[in-house]
Amino acid sequence: MAENIASTAAPAVIELRGVGKIFRTASQSDRAVLEGVDLTLREGEIVAMLGKSGSGKSTLLRIMAWLVGADRGEVHFRGERLAGTAEGIAMVFQSFALFPWLTVQQNVELGLEAQGVPRAERERRAEAAIDMIGLAGFNSALPRELSGGMRQRVGIARALVTGPDLLLMDEAFSALDVLTGETLRDEMLALWESGRANIRSILIVSHNIEEAVMMADRIVILSSDPGRIRAEVPVALPRPRNRDSVQCARWSTRSTR
Ligand SMILES: Nc1ncnc2c1ncn2[C@@H]1O[C@H](COP(=O)(O)OP(=O)(O)OP(=O)(O)O)[C@@H](O)[C@H]1O
Ligand SMILES: [Mg+2]
Repeated sequence: MAENIASTAAPAVIELRGVGKIFRTASQSDRAVLEGVDLTLREGEIVAMLGKSGSGKSTLLRIMAWLVGADRGEVHFRGERLAGTAEGIAMVFQSFALFPWLTVQQNVELGLEAQGVPRAERERRAEAAIDMIGLAGFNSALPRELSGGMRQRVGIARALVTGPDLLLMDEAFSALDVLTGETLRDEMLALWESGRANIRSILIVSHNIEEAVMMADRIVILSSDPGRIRAEVPVALPRPRNRDSVQCARWSTRSTR
């Protein structure tokens, strides 16, 4: 529905201008992985990014999270040029990326420790994030005691605990079995719609067109060699979206051709 699509007048959360990245291959030649990427995420919108394997999707998210530096272009976050890790940007990884020797609570507190948040506040906020993502009671469990779905909940709680404006999700549901992935995805949407997590915008990288259509207000397609934004498609379907709805299925079919 129209109200779910952020109007172009909504303030930008993050803006990429002419972002480029060159990697050196094993044979010592340079390869442009990303080139001239312009992308803006605005307040109130979920954007999904689709692209072939190797097109540079993860690299683009890593540039936004300042885990990798861009060779060209600029990233502006909330109106200011990004020049280091931004506290308002958090990322969820496909591989969960938990520390196996730390408990759920300790894994979730990590992001806050890096920000120098005092211990009592860290504990309180981590408990709230663990609760929000449906893991209450598992605070002292170790990752190996959890199912894949529960581990990814920890990965999500660790991102949410910092109260990010921008949440980057890199194929966050693809390592899970289909049903678990769908459940977690639906819960993330419910959390987003409730406003409880206070996130301003979400960027989801996915291989899965149905997932993109279910979640996003807008889908951007990244081409390969080099990765550029090839197309942007608004998803003007009413929410809540039903994955069985004919409309959704027809849209998915059309977009894969
Ligand atoms: N640190 C690195 N050094 C050299 N090359 C890299 C590095 N990181 C990524 N690449 C290369 O850059 C390209 C893009 O990688 P990236 O992980 O961003 O792709 P992706 O679109 O996320 O793929 P997938 O869908 O498989 O996750 C790949 O060819 C990859 O081999
Ligand atoms: Mg990737």
